Amino acid sequence: MGKQVRKAVFPAGGLGTRFLPATKVIPKEMLALVDKPIIQYGVEEAIASGIEHIIIITGRGKGTIEDHFDNSFELDAELARKGKHELLAVSRGVSALARISYVRQKEPLGLGHAVLCARELVGDEPFAVILPDDVIDAKVPCLKQIMEVFDKRGGSVLATQTVEGDAISAYGVLAGSQDPDNSRIYNCTGMVEKPKFADAPSKQAIIGRYVLTPRIFALLEQTTPGAGGEIQLTDAIRALLKEEKVFGYIFEGKRFDAGDKLGMLQATVEFALKRSDLGPQFRAYLKGLEL
Ligand code: UTP
Repeated sequence: MGKQVRKAVFPAGGLGTRFLPATKVIPKEMLALVDKPIIQYGVEEAIASGIEHIIIITGRGKGTIEDHFDNSFELDAELARKGKHELLAVSRGVSALARISYVRQKEPLGLGHAVLCARELVGDEPFAVILPDDVIDAKVPCLKQIMEVFDKRGGSVLATQTVEGDAISAYGVLAGSQDPDNSRIYNCTGMVEKPKFADAPSKQAIIGRYVLTPRIFALLEQTTPGAGGEIQLTDAIRALLKEEKVFGYIFEGKRFDAGDKLGMLQATVEFALKRSDLGPQFRAYLKGLEL
């Protein structure tokens, strides 16, 4: 048996330009989906998957992320004084969620660079990466699903979803073939970043959940800026493929791109409908709309 995945890296150093002007001051990761910042969904998923240590990559203007996962002494004291015990438990629960460390990315030089910033804290062991703006609704947490593949197969694992038609051009896309023993596993031989539909090597689009071996750090260090002048994680994974096995895994569940306006709206509707305290009223409201 190889080493266990104990740490998860959350790159949150990006500028979130797709959500301007909301993200001029508020980090994208702190935008609320119903009543929780989107990054908290990812943190809860990591914990539910057995992760022990969370490493969040922040940057300028991202201080509210640290405050959110810290004790809020004044708020807690006020809620206690007013006897609002349920809300107090919610507030305290957030800060008790996990062991979290922060690393500052001095400049948003790309997702690959953000992951490289975690090198010292991760050390020489396999680790997970969670992109916080991908919010996933799944019976078994998506990260847990790919950690199980890692345990069985031993190579890096990228969560994927099947994307039909032109929409594939928004993703990194896997080349390779379906595993003969497990139709959800994809034996990866290459990957193409944002291909035209006609050039896409498969329908398997990479989403924001990865388990990577520590070899990726040395490869990231050698990666020169690619598309958009940024150090791309996919470029380093392509180099990793030449040395080690890399698998895709078609996860079970539904992913929302909450870093995008339409994705956030879709997630809001679906998550609100599932809530026992909001769902029935919200459903009645939606039914009453003349669409
Ligand atoms: P995105 O491309 O979705 O995020 O990166 P962005 O650049 O913040 O957003 P837009 O496209 O301008 O709206 C995926 C993840 O990688 C992080 C982002 O914070 C996001 O969680 N990231 C990106 C970094 O941590 N550092 C970077 O230099 C770039």
